[in-house]
Amino acid sequence: MKTALVAGASGLAGRAMVDHLLHVGRFNVLALARRADDLFQNVEGVTPLACDLLDAASVSAALAPYDVNYLFYTAVYTGKGGVANFAPKSDTELRFTQFAMRGMKWPARLAAGLIPNTFFNLFHNVAGGGESENNRSMMKNVIDACRGTDSHLEHVTLLTGGKYHGHHLGPRFYAGYHSPIEEHFPRPPGQNWYYAVEDYVAESQAQDQTWHYTTLRPSSIMGFATGSPYNLGTSLAVYASIRKQRGESLLLPAGPASQMCDIEFSPAECIADMMLWSTEETRCRNEAYNASYGARTCWRDVWQDLADFFDMPAEYTDRAQCVGQITRGYADTWREMCSRYDLAYPEFGEVCATAFLDQQFIIDWDAGYSPKKSRAHGYSKSTEPRAMFHKLFDDLVEHRVIPDPKDIGAD
Ligand SMILES: NC(=O)c1ccc[n+]([C@@H]2O[C@H](COP(=O)([O-])OP(=O)(O)OC[C@H]3O[C@@H](n4cnc5c(N)ncnc54)[C@H](OP(=O)(O)O)[C@@H]3O)[C@@H](O)[C@H]2O)c1
Repeated sequence: MKTALVAGASGLAGRAMVDHLLHVGRFNVLALARRADDLFQNVEGVTPLACDLLDAASVSAALAPYDVNYLFYTAVYTGKGGVANFAPKSDTELRFTQFAMRGMKWPARLAAGLIPNTFFNLFHNVAGGGESENNRSMMKNVIDACRGTDSHLEHVTLLTGGKYHGHHLGPRFYAGYHSPIEEHFPRPPGQNWYYAVEDYVAESQAQDQTWHYTTLRPSSIMGFATGSPYNLGTSLAVYASIRKQRGESLLLPAGPASQMCDIEFSPAECIADMMLWSTEETRCRNEAYNASYGARTCWRDVWQDLADFFDMPAEYTDRAQCVGQITRGYADTWREMCSRYDLAYPEFGEVCATAFLDQQFIIDWDAGYSPKKSRAHGYSKSTEPRAMFHKLFDDLVEHRVIPDPKDIGAD
């Protein structure tokens, strides 16, 4: 049996990868994360490796007994507070951000980008936030522990994302931006930790030549994890549940322009399937692919699907609103709901990433991802947004993350 290591196994993409490997059943599965013991201690077929990827000695000690054949790398360092540090905290800050994005010329936009809490989109390219160094070190520590003269490492699959091609900048800040994004598009100028990590893997592979790597670039990942700062699907489900409980409509905080733009989603289980495919298909060697499954849609349509699932009226706004402001007081409602419906995660911040919702809703440019290259190389699986959301929400009900919508508000 081959040995597969999932680094970042407790996250959105990592948990789905562990599940997929168990389902396929052909691997010894090593699940590495700081919280690995909490999540995988009693899971049959999984060896939890609880360690800090920033600590080279502990990573090499944890991996010393194993000969890893496949590394599925889904870990990410987001810094303290991550995206939340740079999200607008009120409607006023949100409007300032929009004003800066739409109305100003380049130098003023750049100045706005340097003001904390207002222009989070530009942050990744201007400041960098220590992300490049730390993410590179994390990758280096795990890959160095897996490679070496006696190792049988065959393949490394890593995830980057839309920021690789300037999804967060859009056409106003990056003239070369184009949607749908294709893998061969050049990198936008500026810092981005994705480049540091991918370049490290490419350089290591070129030195060793005994293994290969593939990069997958998802859009917004749909799946379940707690404490994940980029957890869109679970955040939407918790937001809708709370609004229904409070007798409120399902308000879409995105403004009119953002409601109609192309968006895409990458279900975590599809990414897991594609990660495994990348190790089997020889055309994937040292290549990058969009993790695109044909789930292109727009917020307006998604919102109706959500309203149908939660059986509540959808509401649209003609002026963007800040999710951080709308959800003030929701933490208390959520705690009460968790006790009333016997739910598993009473900390609102653990399951609803409001800053990430704000970051997604403010985007008013198309962000599609072309599946052409993966299709040409033989990957044909696709998904459909409505079915994807309903499946995720059913899973969340089953795992007692949200109540059954039928029960919400009922006496
Ligand atoms: N989520 C999205 O919508 C999205 C979209 C596009 C691209 N991506 C990319 O996809 C990848 C996976 O994202 P995700 O959303 O699945 O991330 P996530 O849910 O935040 O999971 C991150 C994982 O990294 C682990 N980790 C972080 N620091 C660690 C450390 N020092 N030592 C050991 N483990 C550590 C975390 O485990 P512990 O906390 O237990 O240590 C967790 O398992 C990232 O590269 C991300 O940029 C994500």
